[in-house]
Amino acid sequence: MATSSSTKAGPVSSARSPTCCAAPAFSRKSPHNRPPTGQTYLASRTSTTSVKEASAVTVPAKIVAINGSERDGNTADVLRYAAAIAEKRGAVLEAIDLRTINMLRCGPCGNCNDRVIRCEQTDDVPGVVDKMIAADGIIFAAPVHGFGTASLMQTFIERAGVGYLRFDRPLSNKVAGVISVARRYSAGEVWAQLTVNALLNRMIIVGSGFPSEVHALHLGDAQQDEEGLTNVGRMVERMIDMIDLLNEHRRLTGRQELLAVGDRNERVGLPLNNLEEHL
Ligand SMILES: Cc1cc2nc3c(=O)[nH]c(=O)nc-3n(C[C@H](O)[C@H](O)[C@H](O)COP(=O)(O)O)c2cc1C
Repeated sequence: MATSSSTKAGPVSSARSPTCCAAPAFSRKSPHNRPPTGQTYLASRTSTTSVKEASAVTVPAKIVAINGSERDGNTADVLRYAAAIAEKRGAVLEAIDLRTINMLRCGPCGNCNDRVIRCEQTDDVPGVVDKMIAADGIIFAAPVHGFGTASLMQTFIERAGVGYLRFDRPLSNKVAGVISVARRYSAGEVWAQLTVNALLNRMIIVGSGFPSEVHALHLGDAQQDEEGLTNVGRMVERMIDMIDLLNEHRRLTGRQELLAVGDRNERVGLPLNNLEEHL
């Protein structure tokens, strides 16, 4: 599976736009001036060791960004911008470009809603799901195609969501962000779809002002949409703030679960979906 870290050299960090990855990107002055992030684990903490005495190991907050574009284009540029902001905060943002992975479409079985075991197709999708599960936060970023979500992201939502995530909702309480990229039309609809998908997965979405919709048509145009990028920046900052807050809460309370997740998934107890689900 090919992935690219937007904070390192990789497929997304192409030679096409060499200036886009520097922080702050796109010749804009970043309006953000937040402190660095970091998840602090207390090593060797025992009942006789106070929080202050324990030696601390700081692990950077990890955000995985799913890029649903077919090209190294505007969505990738926006994620490079997001990665630069994350890097300034001491967080790591890894972009996974769906165009570079082996991802099959849904097969003809058509029984996702009734099956009680995971999708049996063999491709890179479960590996991406594992990366999401290992992250603190997840950004879903997709271009608008034909007034809807570009097909790579749509396929990923179908394969990952119905095939793997719906049984136990393993992304529960992770912090989510959503970015849509469009010339203009239906940017809001796609943003709304991806947001509902994050909420379905019981993720936490932090309000940060206007939605992160970036208006761009041709290659490089995203870098000119100052308002769109400002909204993306605010979203990333607030995501990292929330990740820090949740990790601080975990550290201070020792409780890993934050918001109760309740039923195993949202289908439990519904008459039409009263399945004996097990993996
Ligand atoms: C097949 C196709 C369909 C598109 N449909 C829309 C659309 O419905 N609304 C819109 O505003 N832009 C539409 N666009 C423009 C893209 O959203 C825009 O070029 C965007 O910047 C692409 O992002 P990318 O460079 O990351 O692929 C379409 C582009 C393509 C290639």
